[in-house]
Amino acid sequence: MFETAEEGPEEPTSTAAVAAPAGRFAEFFAGIGLVREAIEPLGWKCVFANDIAPRKQEMYLRRFGDEHFLLGDIHNLGVGDLPPGLDLVTASFPCIDLSLAGNRAGLAGRHSGTIWPFLDIVTGLCVRGTPPSAVLLENVTGFLTSRGGADLAAVCRRLAAIDYIVDLLFVDARWFRPQSRPRLFVAAQQRESGGPWCRADSEPSRVRPAAIRRFEAAHAELPFVDLALPSPPAEALGRLVSVLEDLPPNDSRWWPEDRVDALVAEMAPQNRQRVNELLAGERDGVATMFRRRRNGRTVGELRPDRLAGCLRTPQGGSSVQFLVDCRPGAPRIRPLTGREYARLQGADSFPIEVNDRQARLGFGDAVCVQAVRWLVKHAFDPEPRAVLNAPESSRATPPAQFPYAPPTTGRGESQRPLFD
Ligand SMILES: C[S@@+](CC[C@H](N)C(=O)[O-])C[C@H]1O[C@@H](n2cnc3c(N)ncnc32)[C@H](O)[C@@H]1O
Repeated sequence: MFETAEEGPEEPTSTAAVAAPAGRFAEFFAGIGLVREAIEPLGWKCVFANDIAPRKQEMYLRRFGDEHFLLGDIHNLGVGDLPPGLDLVTASFPCIDLSLAGNRAGLAGRHSGTIWPFLDIVTGLCVRGTPPSAVLLENVTGFLTSRGGADLAAVCRRLAAIDYIVDLLFVDARWFRPQSRPRLFVAAQQRESGGPWCRADSEPSRVRPAAIRRFEAAHAELPFVDLALPSPPAEALGRLVSVLEDLPPNDSRWWPEDRVDALVAEMAPQNRQRVNELLAGERDGVATMFRRRRNGRTVGELRPDRLAGCLRTPQGGSSVQFLVDCRPGAPRIRPLTGREYARLQGADSFPIEVNDRQARLGFGDAVCVQAVRWLVKHAFDPEPRAVLNAPESSRATPPAQFPYAPPTTGRGESQRPLFD
């Protein structure tokens, strides 16, 4: 059904087609489990998951079963809650305080600030002498610029202090699926025996664009590296039309004709023009649309390409994404379905036994499966670990000093910050 953007045939998505064991991982901020969906087929075994949202947990359990999902606030977790022998820990932590649409409180915010208890846990694992060999963070690209870069620098500093080398990577879901979803990933690897690390190259590329290079240059004291990633797949091979469900004309999710007419009549000229282009058969006759409040009125704004806009968690009507379908010869409008959200996130066969609203909540907030799979496959491939470029510039750094408190032991124990 789908034109894949991955090099070669599309990666397996079912856990039935599992590769040789790669390692054991824990997913924090697990949501509905799309990190797990992404990397289990690479051979990674999920041994722990945590999230605070019962409705996300419900979808996770329906997909993966009840083995080890711990429902609760990460502030109440400690290393004693984790199984031993973790090779990778992942955190696609909340973006609200980092995104342009949010309040820009940054990592001092209540939501995105949950990165700190996560890093306390990673630190606790290191203090215990069981450091995961890899850590993966994911968030919106605003993470790079939040508070003038001070937030990301503070996170990298914390990782450096516990002996991780760090690669900052930009990956967009559009390289894999017809969804614009630019994201910043922090891929960190444990520096074996305090060994040397190599300075990052300074050339911009698609995965390390100029903004990342500028950030690295401005924080030359941090252990930035370029992990040996191949070029990412070509741009946007998928088309929106390929993920659409074929809903019958009498499905109640289609808006009534008069509502469609009223919205189109209120559109700005540029958006009405886009509707006309779809009616003329351009861009497969379909586009996605957000509703926005402009000058006290609700207007529809269509994308000018064959992609969906970035999926979000619906918190109020304005963040739901709609389909404008002009293939029947007149515009029809409906919200994208939960299944369409799942396909846009690359989770085509994920079971959806909840209503569309809950499914949009789960998938809107999730990661793009193929983006995470591509990244983990290449960044954390166990063989060879951390192949770094620019070897001539490598240098040793002193072993990390640990000015912090003993590791916390488990749930309910109050966690004081390990670093001031
Ligand atoms: C960006 S979403 C991650 C989605 C997930 N990677 C997925 O694929 O579904 C962030 C998640 O953090 C969870 N979260 C927010 N605050 C939390 C807290 N204090 N403790 C644990 N989880 C939290 C939210 O419920 C949400 O599922």
